[in-house]
Order: sequence, then C-alpha cells, then structure tokens
Amino acid sequence: MAELVTTEAAAMLGQARRVVVFTGAGMSAESGVPTFRDALTGLWQRYDAHALATPEAFRDDPALVWGWYEWRRCAVRRAQPHEGHLAVAAIETHAPHAVVITQNVDDLHERAGSKAPVHLHGSLFAPRCSACAQPAPPPDGTAEEPIEGRRTPPPRCAHCAAPVRPGVVWFGEALPQQALEAAVEEAASCDLLLTVGTSGLVYPAAEIPQVAARMGATVIQVNPQPTPLDAVSDVNLRGPAARVLPALVQAAWGDPEPPQSG
Ligand code: OAD
Repeated sequence: MAELVTTEAAAMLGQARRVVVFTGAGMSAESGVPTFRDALTGLWQRYDAHALATPEAFRDDPALVWGWYEWRRCAVRRAQPHEGHLAVAAIETHAPHAVVITQNVDDLHERAGSKAPVHLHGSLFAPRCSACAQPAPPPDGTAEEPIEGRRTPPPRCAHCAAPVRPGVVWFGEALPQQALEAAVEEAASCDLLLTVGTSGLVYPAAEIPQVAARMGATVIQVNPQPTPLDAVSDVNLRGPAARVLPALVQAAWGDPEPPQSG
C-alpha cells in the first residue's frame, strides 16, 4: 500500500470538507471500456474518432455513427465498475460534501453507487432527438452487438420522427451549459480536487482542476503517466485508479480495503 499512496495525500483527503473527484477515460480503463481513442476497432478501425464524433458525420451517415455508439454502449453494459469506482463512491459517504465530475460517457460511476455524477461530455445512456432534442429511451438491452460492430440506422423520435442521436458532446459542439456551470461552481468551492485518469488536454473540461487550484484547493492527481495537470497538482500518485483509489480511501478513513479482484 505504501508505494501507491502517500500519508500526506491520505491526510489531505481525510481532512477535506468539500471534495471534487474529476475523472477521465483512464478511470474506466481497468473495467475494460475502450478509451475514446481505443474504441476504433472492427468496423471502425479505418476511421478517425475525430471524424466520427461530429454532427457532420452523423448527418452524412447516421447508421455508421449510431452503430459506433451502440457498439460502445453495449461494451459498457458488459463492463463492470472496478474497486476504484467503489472507492470514489466511498469518498462520497465519508466527506461532508463530495461530487463526481466526469468526462466519461459511461455509467460506471452510477453503477458503483455515486449519487449524481456531473457528465461534462454527456452520456451513452441519454440519447435525444437530433431535431427537437426530446430525450429518447436508449434501445433495450436485448440486441447484442456483433463484436466487430455494425451499421445501425438510428431510431426515430416519437415526437417529430427525426433521427435520434447519441446524447454525447461531439467535436465542435458546446458542453451542456448546466453541467459546465455546476462543475465550475463545485471546483471553485472545493478544498480538495482529486483528478483521476485524464490527460488534461481537452478543453474546457481540462480547466476544472485549474479552477480548483487557482481558488486555493489541494489537487491530487492519480495517473500512471505525467500530464499537463502535474503543474497544478500538489501530489502526484503514479499508479492505476483501480489500485490507488482503494488504498487512498483506506489510508484516509481506515476503510477495510476491498479484496483485490482478479
Ligand atoms: P485520454 O484518453 O485523453 O487520457 C486518458 C488518461 O488516462 C491518460 O493520461 C492515461 O495516462 C490515463 N490512464 C490510463 N490508464 C489508467 C489507469 N488505469 N488509471 C488511471 N489513469 C489511467 O482521456 P480523457 O483525458 O478522458 O471527449 O479525454 C478527454 C476527452 O477527450 C474525452 O472525454 C473525449 C475526448 O475528446 C469527448 O468525447 C467530447
């Protein structure tokens, strides 16, 4: 345990009154959910994620883009939250105030027990009409996607019959205003921000840890690799989320470390 976390980081977390846990794709990596860039295999291996995750791509070939997100949604459904997700939910029970702000579009934080994660980039489980923006139910869980994926024509909106689109933020689109405002407010008023599994390269999401640092909060980073957020982190815990986070929570509050899965 000692090599994973420092007593300094554990003491900071254990004393924090208002905590933000800010997560990126690395938080889901050990659940086997392909990161944004790794999700291009099978049918999509010849495409660039930046080319598929755009309004133009959906307009030009809705079946290709909807099929890709359905394939990713089914991959998430097959995945399980790991011990790190459970540790984040445990932080929410220990700290007087704690909130998860995530860039991820999966539902692993929710399935691990986090109460109301703020999704800055939307969610695979919140499709909506591409025209009238009415929420649409995610397709039911029966249709298992073939492993290599397939083109799937999107369902039609029940209100205006326009194609339903994934409820995620595409390149060139603004982040959901309410989520971004809530995230900035929480970052500006926290006394500790834990940033986990993000490269800190994509804005405006990457601004969140920097807002916390500017307002005087302690910033702890969990990432096996250095990132631009090293510059604003008071402590860098160089390890994987599924191992570092349980050790950090155990050291901060004495939680019995869950048995290591696998
Ligand atoms: P990235 O794929 O850019 O970065 C993932 C980070 O996780 C890297 O810094 C890895 O070192 C780290 N990492 C990998 N495995 C890890 C592990 N087991 N534990 C902890 N960290 C680990 O993902 P994001 O930073 O989330 O936006 O990317 C941000 C946004 O870029 C995504 O939300 C997406 C993309 O454009 C949209 O889709 C709008």
